[in-house]
Amino acid sequence: MRRRIIAGNWKMNKTPTEAVALCELLKDLVKNDAVDVVYCVPAIDIIPVVNAVKGTNVQVGAEDISFEDKGAFTGQISAEMLVDAGVKYAIMGHSERREYNHETNEDVNKKVLKALENGITPIMCCGESLAQREQGITIDWIRQQVKVGFQGVTAEQAAKSVIAYEPIWAIGTGLTATAEQAEEVCKAIRDCIAEIYGTDTAEKIRIQYGGSMNAKNAAELLAQPDIDGGLIGGAALKADFGQIVNA
Ligand code: PGA
Repeated sequence: MRRRIIAGNWKMNKTPTEAVALCELLKDLVKNDAVDVVYCVPAIDIIPVVNAVKGTNVQVGAEDISFEDKGAFTGQISAEMLVDAGVKYAIMGHSERREYNHETNEDVNKKVLKALENGITPIMCCGESLAQREQGITIDWIRQQVKVGFQGVTAEQAAKSVIAYEPIWAIGTGLTATAEQAEEVCKAIRDCIAEIYGTDTAEKIRIQYGGSMNAKNAAELLAQPDIDGGLIGGAALKADFGQIVNA
């Protein structure tokens, strides 16, 4: 039985002061020992949020990670720094970073490897655009993102990883994939992992759906056999997040 994982992706929202206030607001609402609850927060909020959630069931994640170890990489944050600050998860390959920061599947792969090497659980994002869905290449595209993203990752590491399926057309648009659409792709991701590593690993890896998940649609999406959790943007910034955790 795979443990559910509900992660918030705060994106570029919340000052450190506001972040602590949000942790306070959500504290009792996200209580649930049967689920992994993660707040992936802006880098500047990591330390205050780690402190704010001490003693609760919440773990803290980063929204990105450098694939370099250290040195002359202005503005980047290394895995070692994240670990020292108390980070347990890191998002990589989010479609917004692929688009605005021109991250490739190869970059994402290096980030996945760097996270795993340092004991950080990767939440590797994949997802198709509306054009790709209309061209009928969704599954091919996702398989490519997964296969390149997991190059050099061992079966043991893959089993501990998280993949987030986030159709780009559903992110921040209020347009959610139907439970059938989401399940179809999440199952295809699990099948792809099974092809690479075998069914044992495929049964262990956790696959999230993301894209306008909210308090209303979460239960139906999370009831799908291959959807093990959610990566939540907008709805992670309000009390609704507690309802999603408990859906
Ligand atoms: P959304 O964002 O829930 O606001 O659509 C999800 C994400 O980008 O991770």
